[in-house]
Amino acid sequence: MSKRSLAFLLTAAFLTACTAPGGEVVRTGASAERMTAPVLLTPDAKDVSSYARPEIARVTHVALELAADFAAKRMAGTATLDVAATGEDLVLDSKGLEISAITDAAGRPLQWALGGADEEKGSPLTIKLAGARKVRIAYRSAPNAEALQWLTPEQTAGKRQPFLFSQGQAILNRSWIPTQDSPGIRQTWEARITVPEPLTAVMSGLRLTPEGEAAGPGRRAFRFSMDKPVAPYLIAIAVGDLAFQSLGPRSGVYAEPATIQRAAAELVDTEKMIDAAEALYGPYRWGRYDMIVLPPAFPYGGMENPTLTFLTPTFIAGDRSLNGLVAHELAHSWSGNLVTNAVWPDSWLNEGITSYFENRIMEALYGTGRASQEATLSWADMEASFTELGRDAPGTRLHDPSGADSSGIVYDKGSVFLRTIERTVGRERFDRYLRSYFDRHAFQPMTSARFLADLRANLVRGDRAIEERLMLDQWVYQPGLPSNAARPDPQAFARVDTALAAFNGGGAASALPYSGWTTAERLRFLNALPRELSTARLQELDRTLGLTHSGNSEVLFAWLQLALANRYEPAVPAVERFLMSMGRRKFVAPLFETLMAEGDWGRRIAMRTYAKARPTYHSVTTGTVDRTMKGGSGS
Ligand code: BES
Ligand code: ZN
Repeated sequence: MSKRSLAFLLTAAFLTACTAPGGEVVRTGASAERMTAPVLLTPDAKDVSSYARPEIARVTHVALELAADFAAKRMAGTATLDVAATGEDLVLDSKGLEISAITDAAGRPLQWALGGADEEKGSPLTIKLAGARKVRIAYRSAPNAEALQWLTPEQTAGKRQPFLFSQGQAILNRSWIPTQDSPGIRQTWEARITVPEPLTAVMSGLRLTPEGEAAGPGRRAFRFSMDKPVAPYLIAIAVGDLAFQSLGPRSGVYAEPATIQRAAAELVDTEKMIDAAEALYGPYRWGRYDMIVLPPAFPYGGMENPTLTFLTPTFIAGDRSLNGLVAHELAHSWSGNLVTNAVWPDSWLNEGITSYFENRIMEALYGTGRASQEATLSWADMEASFTELGRDAPGTRLHDPSGADSSGIVYDKGSVFLRTIERTVGRERFDRYLRSYFDRHAFQPMTSARFLADLRANLVRGDRAIEERLMLDQWVYQPGLPSNAARPDPQAFARVDTALAAFNGGGAASALPYSGWTTAERLRFLNALPRELSTARLQELDRTLGLTHSGNSEVLFAWLQLALANRYEPAVPAVERFLMSMGRRKFVAPLFETLMAEGDWGRRIAMRTYAKARPTYHSVTTGTVDRTMKGGSGS
């Protein structure tokens, strides 16, 4: 770290924190019960997605008292914030919040003003502190709050109770929590949430009252606490008819009763994954690792909410072949939740390091065969991104100041970067380094510049030859792929590639050893087939391999992409069913894009399906698909 950035590390007395020589955050001062994490004030750590001005006043703790109102689709109650300040103005992020009063701890009104609304960032909420160090905001969220999805009973597996879940990343939590919604401003939090009986509330922190407490007629209250400072995008809630199944001493899964058995069976290896992750990069610091399998409207594959990973049900394949998702979200317990990108243009620090870590967990559990197949699929995805964006496109940089985190580059190129370092310095040395990186920066924000400085100080250590071979700055700041990139094992898919060549040469589908292939091999095959195929050939594949009826969501998706691009009519009912059955953006958005690219034929299918499906999708998914349907670029 440069002297300059050290000086900027915000450790002033008012933050009640300081950084010890080892980089560990030490508790001091008023909130001695809780750690206060430092905020970086270097220009590269300035968050343009937040209105917060932490150098003047910052939130250190959030206490929520909220009632979930399913009829009104609102969270309503109070947020009480602990504040550390040197100045007068506390600036928070808010989006669509309806605020009724703001007071200090004693109930004295404070002056406040809501600024003009930006379509993405929302509005700044500026509060005159007048000496207050606790601020209580009485408010309710809007019915269309982007972070929240209120599901009707019909949208659940059980069909009898409604469901609510939140998705905070990247900048959505400001639509239900008035705080400084910036990943570099870590906050501890607690919550008391009331919900209608017989529903259960769970959150991404210590679950203090698993059974709930009576809270007036027809309602129960659930209390939670997160005593470690976390980025506020990691505050998450789910409310529904939930069952729980233990998976091991510190892991378990929540899901609707109708889903819990299948979910638990798919997740049996979780405890082993935690052990493998700890063996690689040090202790799991969050206590429990539970997961919740959400209704199919959940817009992501997974979300690494601390102590409670959120998962799409579409990862349930019946054979654990898609559980790399769990390894991924678990890995974020280190890269992402422990050491966190200070700003979204550095999201590769979360996603790239996590994707590398994920693959190491998969290797530890299932061997190099599966790990190198999955790394090869990721490499192919990276190549596809380069082709789509252009090799010189700014969007192919890891550190991307435009901050558009929609491309796979941060995942795929990010993990190749880490694998390249591993191969250059040797696995043992790199593992030792990465472990020490998580220890040195635990509960702290990270930027590209700090990462590179740390790498140079603790791994390269002045070795000129290594420095030259690594090409670090090119990896982080330049578009395209540096020449030293570590390629995956070219033999990973040898037997698929042989069979594919035979098929492409006119061989019969029945000659493909498809039933003996792993899911990764099936995906490789489907994605490597020529993009143009005759109806007869598609029909032969479909009938022989049972593709339209695949119960594996990734296989079905890969097949539908190919089939629809060839206007293969028998796939149409299946794509309509698929698009109506789940709202995962990774599947939904590309399928609509593919249909929209197929002239009147595809546009008609897309429009009639979207008209029915749109009300069932989360704002994350409609936000992307709306652009596609308006004829925009899509993502
Ligand atoms: N943190 C991400 C999800 C995310 C990214 C939410 C950006 C909002 C903005 C999560 O860890 C993730 O990467 N999920 C992937 C799965 C993974 C196996 C690549 C997903 O949802 O597909
Ligand atoms: Zn991730």
